[in-house]
Amino acid sequence: MNSDSDLQIAGDLLEVQHLLRPAREHPVTVAEFVGLARAISADRSQWAPLVQYDATTRWYHRLRTGPGYEVWLLSWVPGQGSGLHDHGPSSGALTVLDGELTERTDRGKRTLGAGAQRVFAPGYLHEVVNASLEPAVSLHVYYPGLTDMPMHAAQCAPAAATV
Ligand SMILES: [Fe+2]
Repeated sequence: MNSDSDLQIAGDLLEVQHLLRPAREHPVTVAEFVGLARAISADRSQWAPLVQYDATTRWYHRLRTGPGYEVWLLSWVPGQGSGLHDHGPSSGALTVLDGELTERTDRGKRTLGAGAQRVFAPGYLHEVVNASLEPAVSLHVYYPGLTDMPMHAAQCAPAAATV
């Protein structure tokens, strides 16, 4: 402590904005990308009016873009799935907004309910399917933006496996 200083902060330190790092306009860390997804998820007015369901193909809509990243809104009617794929050079964060999705990987399968989030690195291999009887909606943040989504032929998880 500098004994020559008689500086004192009175009151709530968090109210002293000039001492705090300003919030970034765009996310750059995993935590910030997950936080962005949570913030969008919590505000249904940002996405619920846009959602459409298409029984012939999975519906998707680019909700937002920023420097190096994209945010996509997807809907899934019962039985619709992604097929087994990776995400090329992109990292991503998947958030279930409504309904329930099942993710299958070489380690088994997991059920993702509304609010569940999965973060993955480049090369992560999975298949996502709506195995429920109700429609589902999900939010996908990709960094960098998804330019390649290579499909893979083999099913990677036996139906009975559970993670
Ligand atoms: Fe994916």
